[in-house]
Amino acid sequence: MSVKKKISYGVATLAVLAGIGILGRMWSVLDTTRSQVADNTTVLANLHSNDAAAIKRGEYVMRMSDCAACHQADFSGGYKISTPFGDLQTSNITSDKETGIGNMTERGFFNAVRQGRGEKGFLYPAMPYTAYAKLSDADMHDLWAYMSTIKPVNNKIDENGRMNFPYNIRLAMLGWNLLYFNNSGFKPDNLQSDTSAQTTADTASLNLINRGKYIVDGPAHCSVCHTSRNALGGEVESAYLQGGNLGTWFAPDITPDIHSGIGSWSRTNIELYLKTGSEGKSVAAGPMAEAVEHSMQYFSDEDLHAVSAYLKSLPASNSPQAKPLVMDEAAKKQGALAFEVNCSSCHGVQGEGINGMVPAFAGNHSMLNNPTNLITAVLVGTRAPHTAERQTAAGMPSFAWKMDDEQVANVLNYVRNSWGNQAGEITAKDVLELRQKTGAGEKITPPGSR
Ligand code: HEC
Ligand code: HEC
Ligand code: HEC
Repeated sequence: MSVKKKISYGVATLAVLAGIGILGRMWSVLDTTRSQVADNTTVLANLHSNDAAAIKRGEYVMRMSDCAACHQADFSGGYKISTPFGDLQTSNITSDKETGIGNMTERGFFNAVRQGRGEKGFLYPAMPYTAYAKLSDADMHDLWAYMSTIKPVNNKIDENGRMNFPYNIRLAMLGWNLLYFNNSGFKPDNLQSDTSAQTTADTASLNLINRGKYIVDGPAHCSVCHTSRNALGGEVESAYLQGGNLGTWFAPDITPDIHSGIGSWSRTNIELYLKTGSEGKSVAAGPMAEAVEHSMQYFSDEDLHAVSAYLKSLPASNSPQAKPLVMDEAAKKQGALAFEVNCSSCHGVQGEGINGMVPAFAGNHSMLNNPTNLITAVLVGTRAPHTAERQTAAGMPSFAWKMDDEQVANVLNYVRNSWGNQAGEITAKDVLELRQKTGAGEKITPPGSR
């Protein structure tokens, strides 16, 4: 055989193997046999579950999954989600036959929620089916029972009507799924093969960690926000929970890294933060405040223990500590004065904050990493979550009208490099970028001044 022919045979074999690989992958991505455990006869509009216990458990699954955050409190949808590819609107998932999912069976619901296969075709991954794929059959049955208690609302939604071409073509999501969708369901970790080391205590702690992993990766979909994404919007596996950019907010590293993560937090700190929005020094803002308010404050104590055990079991991201910033004297003076005048009344003269209500700057690692949230908070203001445990939900006003980009940078550089803190520099350009992204107004200059 000539060398040329050999090579072309080789190439052909590779092509066939690649083809089989893609077909295999296509098969596993499209496979909906997992949904066969669900009923395919009764549509939602005709379903009237009277299994009170299942409905109650289903409500808990709904809280944990935070369905109402996107589908709205009455589940009639229409909430806008901006993506780099255009705006998407959430579906009406009430039992209305005309505009909701009244014609959906339980099996159709399993297909939509766990596999992103909706009534109109492939769903966009803004619906977090990539995480919900891990929901157990039992939780899905309970969720379906709960859905039957939701009142029908007539509200017509054109979900992808405002997506740009070609992203308004649902079939494109097949390609996305081929690249990023893992359809294999939840896989618990097993104890090490060294069985001699297994004790009842090991098994109990492993069960707890596995429950935590289930909650974090499945219903509570933490990685949807806390993991960074590539250009096509796929989660970067190697950066799992090491921080994700949400546009005008940043969901920080939640691995046990001592610098950028929550390595300095005890398990109790983590649980308190999720339950109340604050472990003492840090206070949840933006999308995390909403998640705490609508979802995590309802977690049972056992589930909070499970989540903290799992987060603590993760490998740390191993981020280096930022070099201290040596501030220009004039900028430092200006930042210190601005802090005293505008911020110290709430955040404390020594940056000590108010426990559980106003975040501290001194000794609060959350202030020292990616500066997005700090800048956004100063520009547009922010409000702490309202929870059963903390009813005050303290707020902070916007300072966009009062400070220009340089002044915002100076005051933040000052607090990030005072009281023992050290953090990288925030530039006026960083502030300008977020002023544009958030749509915050310009500084107002009183007449007659400069
Ligand atoms: C982060 C936002 C978000 C969350 C949280 C969310 N959804 Fe969705 N959901 C969407 C979006 C966006 C769509 C529309 C996607 C599309 O049309 O491609 C959607 C579509 C759906 C559909 C398909 C409707 C149809 O007509 O085919 C169902 C069913 C659904 N969601 C149920 C749920 C349930 C149940 C939960 C909680 C377990 C949930 N969603 C949580 C954003 C969300
Ligand atoms: C909708 C997006 C979103 C989801 C879902 C989400 N988070 Fe967050 N999270 C954020 C943002 C944004 C922040 C930053 C809040 C701030 O600056 O006050 C944050 C902050 C945190 C912090 C504080 C970190 C620190 O250093 O201060 C912890 C801990 C945390 N999240 C854990 C979780 C866990 C656990 C889950 C899932 C059970 C979760 N988050 C789900 C967006 C999210
Ligand atoms: C009226 C009281 C008040 C004043 C004045 C105030 N803050 Fe705040 N600030 C708060 C509260 C309350 C929060 C927590 C809100 C939340 O968690 O959403 C907060 C949160 C923050 C955060 C953290 C946002 C996050 O990601 O968690 C930063 C940064 C911040 N403030 C900076 C400043 C700066 C700089 C000033 C002065 C220019 C200032 N604040 C003035 C009350 C105040």
